[in-house]
Amino acid sequence: MAEIRLAIELAGLRLRNPTMNAAGVLGLTAGLLRRVYEEGAGAVVTKSLGLKPRMGHPNPTVVYVEAGLINAMGLPNPGVEYFLGELGRLKAEGIPVIASFFGETLEEFVEVASRLSEGGVDALELNCSCPNVEGVGLLGSDPGAVERVTEAVKGCVDVPLFVKLSPNVSDIAQVARAAEQGGADGLTAVNTLRAVAIDVETRRPILSNVTGGLSGPALKPVALRCVWEAAEEVEIPIIGCGGISNWRDAVEYLLCGASAIQVGTAVMSRGLGVFREIDEGLRRYLEANGFKEVSEIVGLAHKA
Ligand code: DHB
Repeated sequence: MAEIRLAIELAGLRLRNPTMNAAGVLGLTAGLLRRVYEEGAGAVVTKSLGLKPRMGHPNPTVVYVEAGLINAMGLPNPGVEYFLGELGRLKAEGIPVIASFFGETLEEFVEVASRLSEGGVDALELNCSCPNVEGVGLLGSDPGAVERVTEAVKGCVDVPLFVKLSPNVSDIAQVARAAEQGGADGLTAVNTLRAVAIDVETRRPILSNVTGGLSGPALKPVALRCVWEAAEEVEIPIIGCGGISNWRDAVEYLLCGASAIQVGTAVMSRGLGVFREIDEGLRRYLEANGFKEVSEIVGLAHKA
């Protein structure tokens, strides 16, 4: 098996394998993100950071549903300055760190991104697609706004910029193209799908925010379709995200056009061992099918 290479080059980042955690699932401490790397991820992704500390929505914020979960956290986070304090510990260990971030205005997006870039993160993931905070999520469904914010951020940072797309749009290819035109180095596809859960006893919505974002296996076919459509539209690499629980799901995303993948809900349901399981399954799949490296299977499903 020695000749199989899981290492990838992604928008200039060199990663030991194509797996990472999805933004939001493991918080922001150096200790937790280090665990993700130790358990086999190729890079770690932070919870979305804003300019200032933010409480998020009141409970209940999470509900399990058929084949997935719905959450409406409301982007709680301790702010960018807190995370820069944690970052040094991760960088000292050579862990590739992708910082997810958001702003409430274009200026805030630029300021948070600049601080993270100067602070030494390896790459940025622009969250313009949170389904639970007005303004932030709406941005992601407006191609013109996505292009403007991408361009403004790109002009102020020296690290690769990924734009995380929303599935809650009628034409994802158009938004993908807007991000590419704005100068994005890559895309993450996709964020969560807007959803509602109802309690028959209280006869009310379960989440305090009423709506939330659906993730997990229920999201996978929709997210795969989003990756497919984005891959047909843009040249920049795509990180696939949505319901990946095992190596087979990861391979489906790679064949569909993703160059790397993120695991969110399955980290909660299956634990951190999921990264090593995906790495090993991917290695076995490549070997059994006569491939030597991951890039050889990216987008194969599009080829006649
Ligand atoms: C939240 C943000 C997201 O981007 C998402 O997909 C789901 C939830 C939040 O913090 O509410």
